[in-house]
Amino acid sequence: MGDPKSDSDGTCDCASEPTLYSDARAELRRRDFAKFLASVGGLTAVASLTAPLASTTQVFERSYEGPVYSDGVYLVDEAGERISENRLASGDQLTVFPEPRPGIEDAPTLLVRFEESSYGGDIDMGFTVDGYAAFSKVCTHAGCMVSDTEGQLFVCPCHFGKFDPTGGAAVADGPPGRPLPQLPITLTSDGYLAATGDFEGPIGPGGE
Ligand code: FES
Repeated sequence: MGDPKSDSDGTCDCASEPTLYSDARAELRRRDFAKFLASVGGLTAVASLTAPLASTTQVFERSYEGPVYSDGVYLVDEAGERISENRLASGDQLTVFPEPRPGIEDAPTLLVRFEESSYGGDIDMGFTVDGYAAFSKVCTHAGCMVSDTEGQLFVCPCHFGKFDPTGGAAVADGPPGRPLPQLPITLTSDGYLAATGDFEGPIGPGGE
C-alpha cells in the first residue's frame, strides 16, 4: 500500500479542495477520495472492517440532509439482517447500517462490543447497551471510511487517524480533530439492536 500522505508537507490541505458530493455532513474531497480508493485496494493484509465498496461510498451521495437514525430504527448488517442481542462477542466489531429507508439507507456505522467495565473516558454509557456501542464510520478528518483496526483501535487508512472505541471513539492518534460521533442504541423488546436517536454529532468532516 502506498503512503497515503502524498502532500509534500505531509499534511492534508483538503479544506481548500472542492467537494465531490453535496451532502454537507459528509463532505469528501476529491484528493482524499482517490487516496481512499487506493488504500482500500491494499487492505488485505490488515484487519478490516470494510463493507462492500459500493456501500461505503453511497453515504457521500446522499442528498438527504435530515436525521440519519431516529428512535426505533433497527441496526442491520450489510445483508439487511437485524442485529440480535448475541450477535457479537466481547471484542468483536461489525459494520452496520440503519434499516433501509428511502434516501438514507446507507449510513455506515461501527458497532462494537466490550465488557462494560472496559469503557471509560468520553463514552456516553447511556448510549450503550449490554456492552454494545456504535459510532459513525465516516472519518471526522476528511470523510474516508474508518475501515482498519490496530488492536482495539479503529484506524482510518487515509491519514492513519486512530480512534479508541472504549473511550467514546476519542482520537488516539493522527489528524482527526474530534471523535467519531456516537449513536445511542438500545435493545428492543424483540431482542434486536436499534437506535434511540440520531448520532450525537455531525458525521464526517467539519462540525468542529
Ligand atoms: S480522512 Fe484523514 S485520517 Fe481519516
